[in-house]
Amino acid sequence: MSQHARHLAFGGDYNPEQWPAEVQDEDLELMAEAGVTLVTLGVFSWGTYEPERGRLELDWLDATLDRLHGAGIAVDLATPTAAPPVWLLQEHPEILPVSRTGQRYAQGGRLGWCASHPVWRAEAERIVGALAERYGDHPAVTMWHLGNELGGGNRHCYCDVSAAHFQRWLAERYGDVDALNAAWGTAFWGHRYTRFEHVLPPRDSETIGRGNPGLVLDFDRFSSDALLEHLRAEAAVVRAHSDRPVTTNFMVGTGPHVVDYARWAAEPGLLQVTSTDHYVHATDEHRAQGVAWISDRMRGLRPDEPWLLMETAAGAVSWQPRNVPLTPGELRRNAFSHVARGADGVLFFQWRASAAGAEQFHSGMVPHAGRRSRTFAEVVELGADLRAAAPLAGTLVERARVAVLVDEEAGWAWEAGPKPIWGYPITELARQAHRVLHARGIRVDVVPTTRLADLELYDLVVVPGVFLMSTGTASAVAAVADRGARVVVGHLSGLVDPTNRVVTGGYPGLLRELLGVHVDEQHPLLDGVTVAVEGGLRARDWTERVEADDASVVARYLEGPYAERPAVTRRDVGATGQAWYVSAAFDDDALGTVLDLAADGLGLGPVVPVSPGLDVVRRGAPQGSYLVVLNPTDRAGEVHAAGTDLLTGVTAPSHTVPAGAVVVIAEELGRAPLAATRRT
Ligand code: GAL
Repeated sequence: MSQHARHLAFGGDYNPEQWPAEVQDEDLELMAEAGVTLVTLGVFSWGTYEPERGRLELDWLDATLDRLHGAGIAVDLATPTAAPPVWLLQEHPEILPVSRTGQRYAQGGRLGWCASHPVWRAEAERIVGALAERYGDHPAVTMWHLGNELGGGNRHCYCDVSAAHFQRWLAERYGDVDALNAAWGTAFWGHRYTRFEHVLPPRDSETIGRGNPGLVLDFDRFSSDALLEHLRAEAAVVRAHSDRPVTTNFMVGTGPHVVDYARWAAEPGLLQVTSTDHYVHATDEHRAQGVAWISDRMRGLRPDEPWLLMETAAGAVSWQPRNVPLTPGELRRNAFSHVARGADGVLFFQWRASAAGAEQFHSGMVPHAGRRSRTFAEVVELGADLRAAAPLAGTLVERARVAVLVDEEAGWAWEAGPKPIWGYPITELARQAHRVLHARGIRVDVVPTTRLADLELYDLVVVPGVFLMSTGTASAVAAVADRGARVVVGHLSGLVDPTNRVVTGGYPGLLRELLGVHVDEQHPLLDGVTVAVEGGLRARDWTERVEADDASVVARYLEGPYAERPAVTRRDVGATGQAWYVSAAFDDDALGTVLDLAADGLGLGPVVPVSPGLDVVRRGAPQGSYLVVLNPTDRAGEVHAAGTDLLTGVTAPSHTVPAGAVVVIAEELGRAPLAATRRT
């Protein structure tokens, strides 16, 4: 969102075409009651806009835009490319994506298109152009929403058109086919190529894993780039007719992501607003941390501006095996957790729960029961709370003192090809590090490798399972210790280079010198097996045969083949720098013990004194600063910070946060205003 936003946006996907026209009267009445400020229109409406080629029926959209505008509700107008109409798929079935096993998908879903197909591109540009031309300067339209969750359903297409596009992409990347042969190690199995035209996408073949790991990784990169090209094309068409900001809704999660969000977000001029969708999983034992994690990860893409929560659920979703509604109060807590971490608005899928269609049992802000429902009551309360918290809009989140480093491609590289431990969710390791710190009340910034310069801002940098690394990343990690700060590298980091080739000579090749260790063997543990480590710790899943060449041993393995060998090491760098290596996988408690040791003396903790279990984040701007305090526990807690709770109007030197509640404190002047949201 713009840094000058004067309020926090509140609303959701609005799909009035699913309902008889008269329902809109009630919609507007309920939107007014809830305090809706922004709706996303038309995400899946192409088939309604253009029921047959060339016949545009947009009167209802004109009328809806005018009514919303009259009601003071802004519109985030979607390009409807997430759902090509049936007639188009009938005319051009060749634009439907082809699966890895060579099957062309059928009509009936969404995102039914191949990003490389020229027919698709032309059709997409045609409908986007028609809408942008007609509504580009409509006063209701304040933002454009390009497509929907790009890659969520059409991440890969293995058709011949994609194959030819992939070959051109490879030719541009490698220049010379022998460079590709070297990068992928095609001498193995005699897979040497003599022409780029002979390279095929990693289609189903009789092999272990998905095929050559270099090929698979490059196909993931290519597929992300093909979708990016599509996004750029839509953005260019919109921009030709409209000066309103554009966004596209990401699906930031624990990863690996379907596309390279870090690069997409970093592309100059492409997206004026970044946004993401987030849904909690009923089975997630750490739901509150999950919200914090994705919000921190989202903010990390562009830490110097707010972002937008484009979709979340007001109640239950319908795509999990058991779709459990949010608990009472969770809606508000989750919304404010996103806001605390930089969201300048909270929007939902969708305004009114559908009665029919594929998502008929997905919650809406207005459930099937209508106004007389717990969900709508909580929605109305949330609308009021977000209005009260309007001063937060446009402010930036205070930088944390701890960073967790992530890399979009590392998870892809890990999943490309057989590994010593199959199905190991390596990208969970970053969430685990975040969770362990979060449980201690320590704020974390998530830094993607597209923003390595940011690493200089932190006192402690954790590098959890960053399997693939460039030498640039390795140097930036080393520089953290060189300037006197601390680095904690976890197992499975720095093992392969950007071509997915192992860096030989001892693991972790790219970080060996920094860490002062040499690992010659990896030893995954069988399911249920654990290995004792000094300090009362137990390794699980993963151990390594470590030699400490130039590092002190913090904890040794106590049993198993590596008994007496180092499990955790520390290399001192200069007067204060430290480079820790954690060669084993641990549960949260044990990892917490190690991180406590690594953070010893840094004085990390909550930004203001709070009762255990409370989550506090500071957002600020030169004109003042705010603390968002969440209490996900079942007992009341205290936050010791003077100021006024924006939600209740109470001014006090400290505040009680009832069980499950949220307070938003406008901090009393007296503490230095947050002139520096960056720690420099
Ligand atoms: C999102 C999608 C929405 C809706 C929602 C349901 O992934 O963008 O259109 O399907 O999931 O949770």
